[in-house]
Amino acid sequence: MSDLVLETRNLVKHFPLTRGVVFKKQYGAVRAVDGINLELRRGETLGIVGESGCGKSTLARMLVGLETPTSGDLFVQGKNMSRVGAEERRRGRRNIQLVMQDPYTSLNPRMTVGDIIGEPFEVHPDVVPKAKRRAKVQELLELVGLNPDHINRYPHQFSGGQRQRIGIARALALNPEIILCDEPVSALDVSIQAQVINLLEKLQNELGLSYIFIAHDLSVVRHIADRVAVMYLGKIVEIGTEDEIYETPTHPYTQALLSAVPVPDPKLRGQRDQIVLTGDVPSPADPPSGCRFRTRCWKAQDICAEQEPLLQIREKSGHPSACHFAEVRDVVHATE
Ligand SMILES: Nc1ncnc2c1ncn2[C@@H]1O[C@H](COP(=O)(O)OP(=O)(O)OP(=O)(O)O)[C@@H](O)[C@H]1O
Ligand SMILES: [Mg+2]
Repeated sequence: MSDLVLETRNLVKHFPLTRGVVFKKQYGAVRAVDGINLELRRGETLGIVGESGCGKSTLARMLVGLETPTSGDLFVQGKNMSRVGAEERRRGRRNIQLVMQDPYTSLNPRMTVGDIIGEPFEVHPDVVPKAKRRAKVQELLELVGLNPDHINRYPHQFSGGQRQRIGIARALALNPEIILCDEPVSALDVSIQAQVINLLEKLQNELGLSYIFIAHDLSVVRHIADRVAVMYLGKIVEIGTEDEIYETPTHPYTQALLSAVPVPDPKLRGQRDQIVLTGDVPSPADPPSGCRFRTRCWKAQDICAEQEPLLQIREKSGHPSACHFAEVRDVVHATE
């Protein structure tokens, strides 16, 4: 069996912009995700990082089947999800589960924890027989570090970190091989974030899971990711192993994101030249020509407006980077 559990080829999601109430006329499109190629291998964690609005959640929603791609292909365990029959697609979908960002709004306040975690069994009744579901839910509660006796409690009786554990238990209910975490700790206190990340790592080791872990911030994924993809305006601009991205970033956008990570040690802080990005992120409904980052880039030349830099390995980069002037730059890190 192949080690590749998930693959996307040129995955695109454009949201049409329409005018008029009755006769909707399309006058443009939000190019939320604009041609993403990704590979996820068994047991690995792929981090996806980028600023707000760059298309991370839209990508995640396509991967779990909540959003239909405008074009492109998604392969789960080698099977093209748009080419297989309904039953096979269902099985593929079951294999990828989503953990969402906000544990306060993603759990139905009127349902007990037992019903929330067991809800996926209603959609996929064949996974666990009815008589064994309660025991399975209690097992899941225990697995994520919650008291199985609390099965009849409601979400408001739990803290933020505990609620995120409930969300994780629910994602695990159907024994998936891939878990997609869309900013799973962004809404939590810093002290709780580490606990949830440790739990995710423990579960990965115990269950052999593959993760896609989405975050705003490069410092959050550093600890957990084996490889990292950096996104900007619907595209991946740089992808590499944890070391490549953090030690030898070559895309100016990655370098800028890294330089924004706070450095606690004042001695190190002095050594670092901070890159401050000017200007706002352009609208994904009207992205700049050529390189989408060029309007905020200090290296931009004429070629950047004329020619889109492909995501490829360049002489001075060693790993794929979508920049005409990709070059290694020394980075001083927050935590060494
Ligand atoms: N259903 C939709 N209809 C129209 N536009 C949408 C829709 N969903 C998302 N968008 C737009 O697509 C772009 C990408 O949004 P997305 O939520 O994927 O970004 P994100 O990277 O997850 O951002 P954040 O970090 O804030 O969660 C944004 O410009 C957003 O406004
Ligand atoms: Mg999002």
